[in-house]
Amino acid sequence: MRHETARLTTPTALRDVLAERLEDQPSDRELQEKAELAAEINQLKQEQDAVILGHNYMEPALFHTIPDYTGSSLELSRRAAEAEADTIVFCGVRFMAETAKILNPNKTVLLPAEEAGCSLAESISAADVRKLRERYPGVPVVTYVNTYADVKAESDICCTSSNAAAVVESLDSDTVIFIPDEYLAKNVAQQTNKDILFPQKRQHKDAEAAPAGGDGAPSDPDLIGWEGRCVVHDMFQVEDIEQARQEHPNTVVLAHPECSPEVVEAADHSGSTSSMIDYVENTDAESYLLLTECSMGDNILGENPDKNLLRMCWQRCPHMNQITLQDTRRNLAAGQYEIDVAEDTRRRALAAVERMLDIG
Ligand code: 13P
Ligand code: SF4
Repeated sequence: MRHETARLTTPTALRDVLAERLEDQPSDRELQEKAELAAEINQLKQEQDAVILGHNYMEPALFHTIPDYTGSSLELSRRAAEAEADTIVFCGVRFMAETAKILNPNKTVLLPAEEAGCSLAESISAADVRKLRERYPGVPVVTYVNTYADVKAESDICCTSSNAAAVVESLDSDTVIFIPDEYLAKNVAQQTNKDILFPQKRQHKDAEAAPAGGDGAPSDPDLIGWEGRCVVHDMFQVEDIEQARQEHPNTVVLAHPECSPEVVEAADHSGSTSSMIDYVENTDAESYLLLTECSMGDNILGENPDKNLLRMCWQRCPHMNQITLQDTRRNLAAGQYEIDVAEDTRRRALAAVERMLDIG
């Protein structure tokens, strides 16, 4: 989504935006400080010919003031591919900024917090993918975009939560390696009616429920998965949904596909972050329970104050939450932290990302 507020450069105008959109109203002094920071960032962007892309999980004060575009991983990859500005500032996590760099080798791409990672991206290395390829020769590798550039470079095609099933179905192969999100892989397997095998030694304490290549595992699997999990979406349980439905019988439950298949099955709708936003904006339920990163609920409320959103906020994404207005101002002014991807890695990763973008 394009945001006209990102062009505002006066604290007074930005203060009005924040006063209207922040659900938890900060004190006057805090409101003024945030508005001043946002005004400085929007001014710096114009001076430096920069565009800011902001993921749907950004904290509300940042989300409503400085990104020229907000969206899901897929939407922001598309925006990055079309970017005209000299500098792209990615208010999101490192793998997203790397994707922008993969698509724009001649532009400067900045990530405002150096350590903003992702538990899924950290769950797998390029060497792990090479080993999977050795074990399953000729089997195509689909890699979720929540991975680093060197892992994408070892892959045939990428996918996001918006297009994972379509990407798997686009491949003319009986077997597909799908990495690294265990739950997304299981959800895709269910959606496309495929069986799945996890060849790794199972690491998670609840893993006995799913066979890991031992008794009961499919001998000729359609999908070969990996055991990465998102630290946020792994927290949600079917009991949370049952309890919410007891307390709010007419609530509509939305779950991101990084949630377990049991949670997705118990929900009314599952889709990418933008798909969840569209669902809430275009339906008229008494209330909605969002099973995803909590800031997104605040951001939806900022733009749809009449909606009733229930959330479970015991686990914020520790990576997305590192991106603040303060750091964005400081690091845009200092031109850091610049994303660098080695050219050979970038070229190979680009092929996998472009193949995904071609699918739509
Ligand atoms: P989306 O691709 O749905 O925006 O999700 C990205 C993400 O990191 C979810 O945890
Ligand atoms: Fe990664 Fe989960 Fe954070 Fe998304 S919410 S960036 S998948 S850790």
